[in-house]
Amino acid sequence: MNTFSTTLACMLAALLVAGSAHAQDAKQKPIAIHSVNVDLPASTASFPPGPGSDVAGKCLICHSAGMVLKQPALTQDQWKAEINKMRSTYGAPILDSEVETLSTYFAGISQQQQSR
Ligand code: HEC
Repeated sequence: MNTFSTTLACMLAALLVAGSAHAQDAKQKPIAIHSVNVDLPASTASFPPGPGSDVAGKCLICHSAGMVLKQPALTQDQWKAEINKMRSTYGAPILDSEVETLSTYFAGISQQQQSR
């Protein structure tokens, strides 16, 4: 073996050792997967009575009333956009004819929130 190939062989050997040391490192740190239990609080909030509150019951198909009521106050146009997002993005079964009633109802709640 000439000097060049000896050097090359040493470098290869060093690379192999370094490579396997690295692989061993990965083996020594396995990913641990544990099961956990999460108790979510039950929501007791309900929509306040008023014109539209019956239709608002449809919003409860997917989430709680508290989830809707705890959002920042919105204007009627913003509520329309929000309701249409629920329809187009998440498939909420809200009719075209119900959007006006619902947005009036939720805008009214928003106004009450702001005057508190
Ligand atoms: C088909 C299921 C479905 C229905 C029905 C539904 N929503 Fe939602 N809504 C969702 C999902 C999914 C989210 C997003 C939840 C999250 O990001 O954690 C959401 C989030 C929201 C939010 C939080 C802000 C946002 O845009 O993420 C508001 C406010 C809201 N919905 C209002 C309503 C109202 C009002 C109604 C009834 C008119 C309604 N939703 C009906 C599925 C629905």
